[in-house]
Amino acid sequence: MKKTHHLLLLIALITVPLSAHSNTAIDTLLKEYQQAGADTFNAESGKTFWMETHSAQKKPQNRSCTSCHATNPLDVGQHVRTRKPIEPIAKSVNPERLTDVKKIRKWLKRNCKWTLGRECSAQEKGNILVYLENI
Ligand code: HEC
Repeated sequence: MKKTHHLLLLIALITVPLSAHSNTAIDTLLKEYQQAGADTFNAESGKTFWMETHSAQKKPQNRSCTSCHATNPLDVGQHVRTRKPIEPIAKSVNPERLTDVKKIRKWLKRNCKWTLGRECSAQEKGNILVYLENI
């Protein structure tokens, strides 16, 4: 093998794992959801779920993901209680979004409980992530 071949091989060995690493948070979670029994994920269903309203015992009674996040994930939202702005949650306008498995897990758990009165299913979580990743 010539020297350049060695160099190319070396570059390939270094760059493949790096590029495979760049979007692992969502990939990791989607795999996990599929292992938990979810079917193929669907961004349209994620969009519907994002805007759906659920009734709660306590006020505010009509709750939705958009009670705090913007209806359009590309826009800035506003927290229903604190009135604080919430930065756009779409990856396309906010590249830091959905990059941390722990953060996504924590907030999905908390926000699903608040919004629906239960945790979201693996299917619902996968649909949402695919929607927010691609919009
Ligand atoms: C009561 C207000 C509120 C509601 C309702 C709400 N969220 Fe959130 N959400 C937040 C806050 C606050 C954060 C953390 C601050 C931030 O990331 O801007 C957050 C963060 C997140 C994150 C983490 C984003 C990241 O950067 O990784 C996801 C995912 C998320 N929310 C999804 C949802 C989904 C899906 C729903 C509906 C089932 C929902 N949220 C409903 C307030 C809310």
